[in-house]
Amino acid sequence: MPPILWRRVIILLLGLAPFAWISYATVTQQLGADPAKTIVLFTGEWTIYSLFFTLSVSPLVRFLKWRWLMPHRRMLGLFALFYALCHLFSYLVFILGLDMSRFFSELAKRPYITAGAPAILILIALGVTSTQGMMRRLGKNWQRLHKLVYLALFLGWIHVLWQVRSSYFDAVLYGVITAALLGIRAYWRWQQLQKRRAKAAMMNKSHT
Ligand code: HEM
Repeated sequence: MPPILWRRVIILLLGLAPFAWISYATVTQQLGADPAKTIVLFTGEWTIYSLFFTLSVSPLVRFLKWRWLMPHRRMLGLFALFYALCHLFSYLVFILGLDMSRFFSELAKRPYITAGAPAILILIALGVTSTQGMMRRLGKNWQRLHKLVYLALFLGWIHVLWQVRSSYFDAVLYGVITAALLGIRAYWRWQQLQKRRAKAAMMNKSHT
């Protein structure tokens, strides 16, 4: 089997391992006093970790030249979507008992849910348009659309920050990682603009 396929299988198994663990722990009743809450917290955490992994690919390729990671970025992104859907469904089923009117009132009442919902909608839109066919069909707009992943991560972090009751540790840690992953993109964009400006200035000079 070619190395890319091996890596795909390994990433698939690693990505499914948290899901397998939480399913096993649920069936064997190892989730403590409040299993519903444990499942919601666990799947929420794996959503944000998967986003961290996905957005770490470009920096790792640029700084460490780990180009082999690039073809696996899509699968990592799809895991973020997968865990986000597990998170949402476990909240709807185990906490709200599928009472959708309660969901909409929570959406309006609790700012952390109001911030999390658009993040999930973005991840769904990105998952649906992640195929080669959609890439071709959307052309340049595909890249514009997929930049929304930065907003999804930011909203995910706001969602966590807004839930803090006692310890700020996770919220601060996730905030530092989010700031690093978004900050590096902002720096690359600034560098690109500087280069473009310098090139335009050179062209102007040569014309005068
Ligand atoms: C409609 C969308 C969402 C809903 C309804 C939702 C709901 C919840 C709920 C009810 C909790 C547990 C709060 C508690 O009782 O302590 C939670 C925790 C969490 N959620 Fe979400 N969530 C949503 C979207 C997201 C998204 C998009 C992310 C990640 C990008 C995310 C990441 C997390 C994390 C990391 C936690 C655990 C926070 C902690 O450790 O205290 N959630 N979410």
